Amino acid sequence: MVKVLAILYDGGEHAVQQPKLLGTTENSLGLKPYCEEQGWEYVVTSSKEGKDSEFQKHIKDADVLITTPFHPGYLTADLIKTAKNLKLCITAGVGSDHIDLNAANERKISVLEVTGSNVVSVAEHVVMSILLLVRNFVPAHEQIMAGDWNVAAIAKDAYDLEAKVIGTLGAGRIGYRVLQRLVPFEPKELLYYDYQSLPADAEKAVNARRVEDLKEFLGQLDVLTINCPLHETTRGIINKETLSYLKKGAWIVNTARGALCVAEDVAAALESGHIAGYAGDVWAQQPAPSDHPWRSMRGPHGNGNGMVAHYSGTTLDAQQRYAAGTKKILDNWRTGSAQTPSDIIVTDGEYATKAYGQREKK
Ligand code: NAI
Repeated sequence: MVKVLAILYDGGEHAVQQPKLLGTTENSLGLKPYCEEQGWEYVVTSSKEGKDSEFQKHIKDADVLITTPFHPGYLTADLIKTAKNLKLCITAGVGSDHIDLNAANERKISVLEVTGSNVVSVAEHVVMSILLLVRNFVPAHEQIMAGDWNVAAIAKDAYDLEAKVIGTLGAGRIGYRVLQRLVPFEPKELLYYDYQSLPADAEKAVNARRVEDLKEFLGQLDVLTINCPLHETTRGIINKETLSYLKKGAWIVNTARGALCVAEDVAAALESGHIAGYAGDVWAQQPAPSDHPWRSMRGPHGNGNGMVAHYSGTTLDAQQRYAAGTKKILDNWRTGSAQTPSDIIVTDGEYATKAYGQREKK
């Protein structure tokens, strides 16, 4: 019998209040009837850390693993060794760095994601986060909730987005959508840094300029938005040194992956006032520990923190799309039909995408 294991987050009362919360253990991506029809065992759990977790117990004989980046089941090389039957990993969403892709390749386990399923959801969150930092929204709101009224305290750190230089590190599906959405704000310039160039017509449509040197790229920015996957060469790409390339007072929005940034270096840069703000929804470990520096960091005026839990790509609209996409991948696998090529991250021991680093084909 085929065994499908899904690691999802618990919805509790919220899943009852909102049946569209498909990504919860309670609503199980809507896949229970489908798995029952096939006579498959479908195990759904949120318990994912440590050797006594349901994840580590059930991965040993699961054929298919479904995970989401929001409550990631970290499939390490060691766990892959124990997963004797595993053939397919499906990421319900986008971003499969929580799976050791090189170890999956060694075992010829395929890893697929629902490409594009939440890219608009994230791009909208990025634009919102840029605005809330630049306009100093969070302290302004906190002040009102606290019963205070002090315009000067807020306005001294509030700017317009117009005429700023904004750059995306990674100009794929999300990065490009961010650029598209920023055009009406009339920035001074839109820049991007990516080893893959945008097609000329796409570049022209948003009037973006590619900068090939990271230092030169960062040095021009008022706002940095990070939109590349986490892999060997992007881990910690924003660190003490690269932060120093940014102009004093720059703002950073990272909705890509927490581990792209060195947490302590970002917190130090904010606290010293070198950067004016940091916002996003991704953390190197999720759920983030209660003492993570990004929960409490603030700029010298108590400003500049726009962090939230990982939810930008799990809006109810996105959940519908990634639940449907997960079912499609599962059904293609069951029937032996071809998978949508852009959904494939690794298969047959090779990377099928150019987004996870510049790699030579074997
Ligand atoms: P994509 O594959 O369409 O684009 C990624 C781009 O990053 C590619 O153009 C690639 O060449 C570029 N890139 C890779 N390594 C780079 C490097 N070293 N330097 C510069 N550019 C580099 O992916 P998409 O759909 O835009 O998603 C990007 C990432 O966003 C995902 O991998 C995931 O980590 C994150 N994400 C976060 C979500 C959230 O809820 N916060 C939801 C969806 C995705």
